[in-house]
Amino acid sequence: MKRVFSGVQPTGNIHLGNYLGALRQFVELQEDNECIYCIVDEHAITVPQDPKELKQHILDVAALYLAIGINPEKAIVFVQSQVSGHAELGWILNCCANTGELFRMTQFKAKSQGKESVGAGLLTYPVLMAADILLYDSDIVPVGNDQKQHIELTRDLAIRVNHKYGKDTFVVPEGRFMKAGARIMALDDPTSKMSKSAENIHSRISLLDDEKKIKKSIMKATTDSEGTIRFDIENKPGVSNLLTIYSVLSGISVEDLEKQYEGKGYGDFKKDLVEVTIGALAPIKEKYNEIRNSQYLIDTLNDGAERADEIAQNTMKRVRDHFGLGL
Ligand code: TYM
Repeated sequence: MKRVFSGVQPTGNIHLGNYLGALRQFVELQEDNECIYCIVDEHAITVPQDPKELKQHILDVAALYLAIGINPEKAIVFVQSQVSGHAELGWILNCCANTGELFRMTQFKAKSQGKESVGAGLLTYPVLMAADILLYDSDIVPVGNDQKQHIELTRDLAIRVNHKYGKDTFVVPEGRFMKAGARIMALDDPTSKMSKSAENIHSRISLLDDEKKIKKSIMKATTDSEGTIRFDIENKPGVSNLLTIYSVLSGISVEDLEKQYEGKGYGDFKKDLVEVTIGALAPIKEKYNEIRNSQYLIDTLNDGAERADEIAQNTMKRVRDHFGLGL
């Protein structure tokens, strides 16, 4: 059995990009693998958070994990800060990473915007992510395309440490990316990715959006003036993005959708996509509402943390030993 690890930040509601790029894979992988899914709250504090809101968002994401179909009897679900090995291994790996490789990270460049005085956590964030993954001897890391560079760094760090401290220190993991949906674009600007932090709420569809909001966001989505429904990322990024979302949510191939909408306008296409989206998200919302405020959710997370911690402690014993730390 392969070990799978992934995480989502508890910063605002999970959107279609997160779901189609990453979370969908979590559910699929739990059938044949040993899966560990984390709510990475220590990552969230790399930018300022309201403590009360953060606590709520942690439970929101946990409830959404279960609502989309993650089964805690098959997979471990837990909150990062409940397992101290993440921060500990993060420090050790910080001492193995170079500042140059961290300054080169696309996400750091985007988030720091060239400013000199940004939180150091923004720079070392990918090292903590590497620690998350390596702490569990993970083989597979299901993520969206925007995490590719971070996975590469994780692999580089693992290989570097293995070379210096012994080849069985870390398992070298691999990223897993969806063929369709690995990079869902913003609805208002299909040249940038859908993100939790964009100011325009109509740039994204959150999994918990109500029907009115879903309708408005899709009907407002940027398309083009050509008027034909065909997949062409370069010349028609907006329509191509909507076709991807439609195809993944409905299970109908893009080619079949193109045929189905031949001679039809964007209005008809978008109206149907509204229905498809509402239909796909309704059962998730229903399950979410059922468990969001339950003791079951808390028990699941506590149990998950205990199981995760056991694995993490074993790894940390080995890592400390290889590095010569402690007695
Ligand atoms: P986060 O919380 O930003 O996003 C969670 C997951 O959603 C994917 N994703 C997308 N996929 C397709 N289209 C999009 N527009 C889109 N936006 C986000 C992300 O790639 C991610 O898989 N650094 C990570 C969290 C993390 C992690 C880890 C992941 C921390 N430690 C260890 C895996 C393993 C992040 O910020 O994801």
